[in-house]
Amino acid sequence: MEQQHLLNLVEEHGSPLYVYDANVIEAQYKRMANAFSSVDNLRINYAVKANTNLAILKVLKSLGSGVDAVSIQEVQLCLKAGFTTEQIFYTPSGISFEEVEKAVDLGVQITLDNLSILERFGNTYPDIPVCLRINPHVMAGGNHKISVGHIDSKFGISIYQIKNIKEVIAKTGTIINGIHMHTGSDIYNIDAFVQATEILLDVVKEFEHIEFVDFGSGFKVPYKEGDNETNIERMGEQISERFNQFCVEYGKDLTLIFEPGKFLVSASGNLLTQVNVVKPTPNIVFVGVDSGLNHLIRPMMYDAYHHITNVTNSNDSEQKVYSVVGYICENDTFGHNRKMNKVSEGDILRIHNAGAYSFSMSSNYNSRYRTAEVMTYKGKDYLIRERETFEDLLKNQVEITL
Ligand code: LLP
Repeated sequence: MEQQHLLNLVEEHGSPLYVYDANVIEAQYKRMANAFSSVDNLRINYAVKANTNLAILKVLKSLGSGVDAVSIQEVQLCLKAGFTTEQIFYTPSGISFEEVEKAVDLGVQITLDNLSILERFGNTYPDIPVCLRINPHVMAGGNHKISVGHIDSKFGISIYQIKNIKEVIAKTGTIINGIHMHTGSDIYNIDAFVQATEILLDVVKEFEHIEFVDFGSGFKVPYKEGDNETNIERMGEQISERFNQFCVEYGKDLTLIFEPGKFLVSASGNLLTQVNVVKPTPNIVFVGVDSGLNHLIRPMMYDAYHHITNVTNSNDSEQKVYSVVGYICENDTFGHNRKMNKVSEGDILRIHNAGAYSFSMSSNYNSRYRTAEVMTYKGKDYLIRERETFEDLLKNQVEITL
């Protein structure tokens, strides 16, 4: 997005501000669909947890996307955004049976990841087919906090427990209509996906009524300038070929599903934040902004790198090295030792790649308001969330008199 456009949006809606360019979401969606165009039945189920704003959901719906929801509330948001129950896949982890019952009432496709719940499900709903999340025990993912397919991970039913699954379904008569996996996020190496594909297709052979195979997601996006990303086109070619070959070999008309979050929305988003102070110290020149880990926790939680640029000053003839820090009473550093165009108090900085797991992981820590959000799409700007107010902080507090 152009610098002046971003500055105008901050002028109009204030700082800090999340701004999403939905044209980028559209381009990423089409890239993914093209990469798998040789598969007859392909479903892209956007992983809603990455960004749950209704406007973003509506854009994805208009592009033909389905959704992957992990809580009843996410299912409800998707329904609110206009998705039909057929378009919503519910893939939670470690939830109570009460939540499963709600999902049944709502009529969405359910994925279970636990043998005891599978048994209870089968006994309660013998006629409802269900998908199973398998843990393939593949080590993948950008860092240990977001690796979920290895042997020590809480997710899925172990690949070594297929026998136990069969025992349960033999007792209950449950039909398994889908097999699911997800091994982590920020996975660059496509071999990890290809390896997991082989494992999952082997699992498909174990069950008679499989209609779809859900390969989850985890595609790496470039966070740094010149950073690598998962080669989705090459991966598309390899997995599609293997998948199509499998369908022919086993005479199955399967649907192939992916659940991308970051790949679809990360690059579309920016967190715009104003510089409160420029603070030279003996070692470091700090740039203190009017945002913090309450708005974007990824750098602090995962040591994630987000590129930061000065939107106000586009003159790159005088660059300096700064550490960009937040206003929360903790060490909330957005970026250490970043070379940027000279920064002055009042400037607007742009934290890039903040479309996924950014607003959706924000909080009211330090009693700060969550930001407003703006989306730009096909030449029009839309305010898609108001900034919070003091009333929002008080909303569910119960005042007592002592
Ligand atoms: N499917 C399942 C079952 C998932 O658990 C996830 C993400 C996705 C799909 C989407 O993965 P993606 O395409 O976004 O990599 N908060 C972390 C990422 C956690 C991902 C959790 N599950 C971050 O900001 O890096």
